[in-house]
This record gives sequence, structure tokens and C-alpha cells, in this order.
Amino acid sequence: MTNLWSTVTVGNLKLPHRLAMAPMTRNRALFDGTPGNLSAEYYGQRASLGLLISEGTQISDDGQGYLMTPGIYTDNHVEGWRKIADKVHASGGHLFIQLMHAGRMSHPDNTPHHRQPVAPSAIAPSIQMFTNNGKLDIPVPRELSQAEIKETIEDYRIAAAAAIKAGADGVEIHGANGYLIQQFISEHSNHRTDEYGGSIVNRARFAIEVAKAVVDEVGAERTGIRISPEVPLGGVDEGSSALDVYRYLVPELAKLNLAYIHMLHVGNEELLSEIRSAWPNTLLVNRAGRPLKDIAVDIDAGLADITPVGAWALANPDLVKRLKLDAPLNEPDRATFYGGDSRGYTDYPTIDEKTLQNR
Ligand SMILES: Cc1cc2nc3c(=O)[nH]c(=O)nc-3n(C[C@H](O)[C@H](O)[C@H](O)COP(=O)(O)O)c2cc1C
Repeated sequence: MTNLWSTVTVGNLKLPHRLAMAPMTRNRALFDGTPGNLSAEYYGQRASLGLLISEGTQISDDGQGYLMTPGIYTDNHVEGWRKIADKVHASGGHLFIQLMHAGRMSHPDNTPHHRQPVAPSAIAPSIQMFTNNGKLDIPVPRELSQAEIKETIEDYRIAAAAAIKAGADGVEIHGANGYLIQQFISEHSNHRTDEYGGSIVNRARFAIEVAKAVVDEVGAERTGIRISPEVPLGGVDEGSSALDVYRYLVPELAKLNLAYIHMLHVGNEELLSEIRSAWPNTLLVNRAGRPLKDIAVDIDAGLADITPVGAWALANPDLVKRLKLDAPLNEPDRATFYGGDSRGYTDYPTIDEKTLQNR
């Protein structure tokens, strides 16, 4: 018997089971970053997943990396997200908005102000990204000054306040996948010589200061953070001291009593059990690439409290029902992941009685 279907808490929320929807960028916002009209329907359809972690949502013009991603820093953004939060709540779910700053993983063609992207250091990720003008090299970013680092931390705080104003139950700080926070953490992308670079303590400082600002603004019970130790996305190679920085960071975050850590896990089992021991609150583990049959393995082993699901949740609005009934799943259509209309967004069917009876 699996523990997957037992209740669990996140901050002050009591959730009905241990699945959640992993954050997924869908590139369907309006040009000004307001979530598009279909987004409320999309998230509402998936409310039975209990905790829905939104797509990466930029905290400022500088924070935008990709085209048509939503923001959470203007009145229009708040109104757009309010529709989503209302729909999710009316359908019985809970919403955490993922606060994202892409840092150097951006392109002037993709941002409202068309400026050079910013980062801890002027080091390009040496990869390409999609822009309005096709797939282009990501340019060398501009190094943030210390004053700008403080302003960026303030942007996280303001965005967190806006998320709560929009009716979200909390926010997830995006510290993963090679975006700004991980660019500070990694010695590969951070060559600073001030107190934000160099030693482990210095490279973890930005993440901790962002977390403090967000906690200060919206409360620890409404703040989670995502990390991705050893995940080489965005050209980030965390280098030899990769694991030590997380060994330092996690206990520091524990002092702030955040509602959860969300770990994108690529298989360093020793690190996962260390984080499990060092982290007193709820631990979300998204084990990338695990087969569906192993969905409850970390929960049942006591290594995770919640297992967020990405692509299967994207393709199956009624994933919880299907898994409980051991029913067949819709296959995710990768061609419609990033951008487009309702196709591959709100038109994945729920399972019907006929299919269930004919099994
Ligand atoms: C379409 C798509 C968009 C994604 N966008 C984000 C994102 O905005 N923020 C993030 O932290 N992870 C993002 N991810 C990663 C997922 O949250 C998750 O870690 C990954 O899909 C592995 O989980 P899965 O095997 O259950 O899909 C995205 C994944 C997919 C498939």
C-alpha cells in the first residue's frame, strides 16, 4: 500500500495527497506578460493535483528570459493571476506562483526593454535560445552591480507581494535550472570577487537574501524554493564544489523555516538523503525521468513528502483519478509544450466512463 494518497501539509495548507503539479513554462501569456485567457482554464482543470506550482513567472523586465511568459509585477499581471487563483480555488486546488529571474538565460529580442541580459558575471552560457528572430546565440550578459543586486532582491519581494495580492497561496523561488539564482550558486557562472562570489558562503548569499526578503514579505509558510543540484541546464556547470554549496545552503534555508524545498533530483542519492536529514519541513522531490510506475518510490521510502509531476500532469488534467484507477494516460504532445493556443493546453481529454468500463 502506497503513502501517495495520504494527506500532507505545506506551510498552513493541508493537501489531500502527495502529488503536485510541477512548474511548467507554456509561453501562452499576452505580450505584456499578463497570463492569457486560457490559463485560468488550464490550471483549473488540474486542480485535483492539490498543489499547483505555476510556470516560471518573471519578477521584472530584466527577469524575463523567454517569449510570452507571464510576469507578476504590474497591475495587469495581478488581475490575470487573480483569475487563475480564483479558478484553482473554486475547483478545490491551491496555487504557488514560481518567481523566476532568468538572469543570463535571456535575449534582448525577448524582453520588453530589449536590453542586454544581466547576471552575476559577464559570462555567456554558450547556448542558443528561441527569439522572435529564430534560434539565436545567447549574448554575453552584463555583470550586476552590488546596488543592482539589492534592487533585484527587492524585485523578488515586490513580486511575492503581488502574487499574494493576486490570491496565490504562496510563491516558489526559482533557484534551479540554470537561472539567476543558480548562476550565483555556480562557480562556473559566478566569477565575482565581492561578497556575492568566491566562497560557498558568498555564492549562496544571493539565494539566502532573496529567501529572506520573500519570507519577510509574505511569511515563511507561504514561501518555497526550488533547487536543482548538479543539473547542467542553462550552461551551468556547478563544478567540483557543487554539492558543498547545497550542504551549506539547505541548513541556512532551514533557519528561515520555509514551507518547502523542491528538489529537481537527477540521481545523487547520497545528496538526497543528506538534504532529507538537513531539511526539517516539507520536501518535494521531482525525480527527472523516472518511469510512471516509480512515481511513489521516494514517498514510500520516506525520502520525499510530495512528488511533483510535470509532463504527465500537463497531458492529463485528471491525473489523480487516472492513477487511482490505474487507467491509461494521454501522451504529452511535445510539439505544443511551448506556445500556441488551446491545442495541447486545455484540450487534453479527461477519461470517460466508457473507456473505464471497456478496460
Ligand atoms: C513544458 C515544460 C516546461 C517546464 N518549465 C519549467 C519552469 O517554468 N520552471 C521549472 O522549474 N521547471 C520547468 N520544467 C521542468 C519540470 O518542472 C520538471 O522538473 C520536469 O518536467 C521533470 O519532471 P517530469 O518528468 O515529471 O516531467 C518544465 C518542464 C516541461 C516539460
